[in-house]
Amino acid sequence: MTKITQTEASDTLELIAPLTEQERHEIDHLLKHYPVAAGASIDALKIIQKHQGWVSDSALKALALHMKLPVADLESVATFYNQIFRKPVGKVRIHPCNGISCMLMGYRKVQQQLSQKLTIGEGETTENNIFTLISHPCLGACDKAPVIRINDTLHEYVNVDEIDTIISNLSEAHGNIDG
Ligand code: FES
Repeated sequence: MTKITQTEASDTLELIAPLTEQERHEIDHLLKHYPVAAGASIDALKIIQKHQGWVSDSALKALALHMKLPVADLESVATFYNQIFRKPVGKVRIHPCNGISCMLMGYRKVQQQLSQKLTIGEGETTENNIFTLISHPCLGACDKAPVIRINDTLHEYVNVDEIDTIISNLSEAHGNIDG
């Protein structure tokens, strides 16, 4: 396993905001269940995201230092795993599925309608920080395509005509698109 170097550690120290006691506690508990720290990378990143809403460079460096892993290794896991957010996201995360089945069943129209209604592009967040639109590959419900996951709720057999209603209901619950 690659070890974190002295130079990397001192570079890192200049740029990190320390993890909270709760974050450290949860990560230490997690690490007990893995023979090597690297194996816990995704779950550790999820802990940071649960507490901070996303994983900043600073938080990633603090985590790498705490787990005694190279920053680059953790960075590549965070980049590869598309459910780790590397920039701030809105309160409502909207994930239309762009896997093959959903693609065949109308993903593009669904995504375009969402983008038009929210007035943001792929990967963007509305100005009021309420909505973020990020497509994800296969959400595991191919027989119900096209699907959208909104935070933890899966919407199945989505029809483009329902999108305005879905967004209007979310806006009522969380705040208007225009703020
Ligand atoms: S391709 Fe969309 S759920 Fe599998």
